[in-house]
Amino acid sequence: MGKITVIGASNWDMFTYCARIPVVGETIKGNDFKTSYGGKASNQAVQCALLGSECVGDDMIGKNTIENFKSKNIDIKHVGLVKDVPSGCATIIVDSKGNNNIIIVGGSNDKLDQQDVIDATFTIQKSSYLLCQLEVSLETTFKALKVAKQPASSCKTILNLSPVTNDPLLMEMMEFVDILLLNEVELIGIAKKTEEKIDMTSMSTLHQLVLDSVMNKYPTIQSVIVTLGENGCLLVSRDYKGIDQYTHVPVTEKVVAVDTTGAGDSFTGALAHYLDQSFDMAESISKASRVSAISVTRYGTQTSYPSKSDL
Ligand code: RIB
Ligand code: NA
Repeated sequence: MGKITVIGASNWDMFTYCARIPVVGETIKGNDFKTSYGGKASNQAVQCALLGSECVGDDMIGKNTIENFKSKNIDIKHVGLVKDVPSGCATIIVDSKGNNNIIIVGGSNDKLDQQDVIDATFTIQKSSYLLCQLEVSLETTFKALKVAKQPASSCKTILNLSPVTNDPLLMEMMEFVDILLLNEVELIGIAKKTEEKIDMTSMSTLHQLVLDSVMNKYPTIQSVIVTLGENGCLLVSRDYKGIDQYTHVPVTEKVVAVDTTGAGDSFTGALAHYLDQSFDMAESISKASRVSAISVTRYGTQTSYPSKSDL
């Protein structure tokens, strides 16, 4: 089993729970307020570590966050503190169905640059997996992907396409991605289609969308995983069944969601953990779905992630 390196952002998450999300200009009363360590990269590293994988963090954050990483046995060798810059913060509104709206203010996360990646070259290249998201500068993430895919390295790359963007640089980055992870909204985002036109419950329609917007455009991408919430996941993979076929991995148990925030990060961290444990793609997806399903039944981001003993 290898090490898993996660590069990206760490935030202080502030949750307001309310019956529904207010419209522009409206004031409403909320039911509860909670805080949690968050940020996509930080969440993914914590979920890996909770399941027993060894992780290396790589971002710029506050002292307490570093203590949080340490308490989860995450190697913080490449986590830095930036002077005179506030930590990243996320304001999150959750409605009574567990749906959320998130506003991120990058703060210190925006300071993570290519030199930080260069400094972590050895660590990245000695890892079995590199997990990336799109929460820090694209140039920084691009550099990390390139470092991971240098000939000297056997590190596999997983890109979680969140928050989705149509920046032209993303197209270049895709050439360095082995596994692309996205949800249905993000799939529509890169397919540049409007939601109304697509039947997201039809697996064959989604399969075609994955072929048109990813597989046929980027021959280096081995696998695409689309997470579909309660409808499970869709897998299209060159090295699993070939791209002419898709695999639908349904959820194993239905759950009642109270807060879906960070469920994608829980899934991503867990997926890397199970792949690293040598489970095959479909099995890893199924196991990771179970982990993230537990996270939606609890409030918060990292506070909601199950550990090995919870499973
Ligand atoms: O994916 C959920 C995460 O997005 C939250 O923890 C928040 O910090 C934002 O980064
Ligand atoms: Na949760």
